[in-house]
Amino acid sequence: MRLEDVKTISVLGAGIMGHGIAQAFLMGGYPVRLYDIKDSILETARSHIKNSLDMFAEEGLIKATDIEPMLARLESTTDLKGAVEGADFIVEAAPEDLALKQDLFAQVEALCPEHAIIATNTSSLTLSAIGKKVQSPPNSPSCRSSERSRNQRRDHGCGFLSA
Ligand SMILES: NC(=O)c1ccc[n+]([C@@H]2O[C@H](COP(=O)([O-])OP(=O)(O)OC[C@H]3O[C@@H](n4cnc5c(N)ncnc54)[C@H](O)[C@@H]3O)[C@@H](O)[C@H]2O)c1
Repeated sequence: MRLEDVKTISVLGAGIMGHGIAQAFLMGGYPVRLYDIKDSILETARSHIKNSLDMFAEEGLIKATDIEPMLARLESTTDLKGAVEGADFIVEAAPEDLALKQDLFAQVEALCPEHAIIATNTSSLTLSAIGKKVQSPPNSPSCRSSERSRNQRRDHGCGFLSA
């Protein structure tokens, strides 16, 4: 997959990291689907993103008039299927719990398009461990889509650094 083929982003987990990752993609111009297990968490995440964008605008880093269009591209959902269906790039920022991430990856793989890149924001777990329950084992710890066409394995990605 090439960068220009990525049209829709899904972020799974709307906590400290997830809402920030979602914001970064919104600022990059992408539509973002933000998934979490409770509506209240998603509402808090939206409010954190709005506050953060307001600060960016106050600092002159973005235009204030860009904030509403960015927030309009943010879709929040507690429905995992709806979150990843048709997505091109999916990144999970769920709790640092191996079993939880393994199950999430396996569920996502079954629901998302074949071409989708599934990435993790893990800070300490290995990609091979997280991908243990997926049908198509991980390719590499980075997003190298060219490898998929060569060996038909699913691409997985890793590594969003917190600032
Ligand atoms: N906080 C950091 O500074 C930091 C830095 C780098 C990496 N990370 C990594 O990022 C990931 C997320 O960390 P965080 O600090 O944002 O955690 P967090 O607890 O703030 O957020 C995790 C979110 O995931 C949600 N969640 C629970 N079960 C879920 C499921 N089954 N599917 C999807 N979401 C689910 C929770 O409701 C919560 O909102 C972890 O893997 C962590 O190690 C964190």
